[in-house]
Amino acid sequence: MARIFSGIQPSGIPTLGNYLGAIRNWVPLQDEHECLWCVVDLHAITVWQEPAALARQTREMAAVLLACGIDPARHVLFVQSHVRAHAQLAWIFNCVARLGWLNRMTQFKDKAGKDREAVSAGLYVYPNLMAADILAYHATKVPVGDDQRQHLELANDIAQKFNHDYDAAFFPPIEPLILGPAARVMSLRDGTKKMSKSDPSDQSRINLNDDADTIALKIRRAKTDADPLPSEPEGLANRPEARNLVGIYAALTSTTPSAVLAEHGGKGFGAFKPLLADLLVSVLDPIARETDRLLADPAEIDATLRAGAARARAIADPIVAETERLVGFLPPR
Ligand code: AMP
Ligand code: TRP
Repeated sequence: MARIFSGIQPSGIPTLGNYLGAIRNWVPLQDEHECLWCVVDLHAITVWQEPAALARQTREMAAVLLACGIDPARHVLFVQSHVRAHAQLAWIFNCVARLGWLNRMTQFKDKAGKDREAVSAGLYVYPNLMAADILAYHATKVPVGDDQRQHLELANDIAQKFNHDYDAAFFPPIEPLILGPAARVMSLRDGTKKMSKSDPSDQSRINLNDDADTIALKIRRAKTDADPLPSEPEGLANRPEARNLVGIYAALTSTTPSAVLAEHGGKGFGAFKPLLADLLVSVLDPIARETDRLLADPAEIDATLRAGAARARAIADPIVAETERLVGFLPPR
């Protein structure tokens, strides 16, 4: 059974985009793989985090993952900083990766923006930590969004260079699982922009804890054009807002945009939007309720995360110990 690792940053309540593009696709992977799901707080602090907010958001993300169907009994759900192996292996990888490789990372360029001198050194070596996350478990499959593909290529470069330099077939190749590219969810205010937690307008996104009234209102106010829905996907060209709402509907009902249009083509948005809102409520309301139920007992979530960390350590510690032996570190005991 292949081992899967994926990480998600504790950066606030996830959006519908995070859900359809990432979390929801993780759940069925649990049927056929051994999975490690990690809330990556070490990655989060590469940009400033208010300490109290970081702790709260780490627990919230764990609760959302559990509410979405991540199974902590059969798989491993844990917090990155609870397992020292990540930071230990990341240091070694800082010494394997070349500056030239990191200089090519487009996410760093995007996140650093114009003021490159002012960002943390952590933001720069972020991909090395990500490689350590995966390789500390010898995981071979990594479900991620398309934006993370370049980081996984770098992880493979690190693994290969390590194996070459230390003359050992130790780290396995990693395969990205790019899931649900069909479900790139766009902003409700601008169909050409990605739906994002960081958009200043809350009206631009559905949050996984929005209540039914909020969802209905956001969908009612969602930007659209005046035309009715076409009956074929070709009719969505140059109609990004319409395409987005149809795409969301299709993703939520696990069908295709053409099937949605076959059924709803000809309807105006006045008729289609309430259907979409009801569908969203039926999928998200149970998740919101379960998240709230879990968050009412933080000690229980913390116990689940502690148990997950113990299981993660049992896998990662021997792999990091062997890495250190290969590097030539004197055995600590
Ligand atoms: P982020 O919150 O941007 O760090 O993303 C966490 C995960 O959610 C990544 O796998 C992203 O690819 C995915 N994701 C974020 N926003 C969207 C979106 N609007 N549509 C689809 N997937 C998304
Ligand atoms: N960088 C990933 C993101 O922002 C999160 C992440 C950290 C991750 N470590 C990982 C994803 C390891 C996959 C595997 O989405």
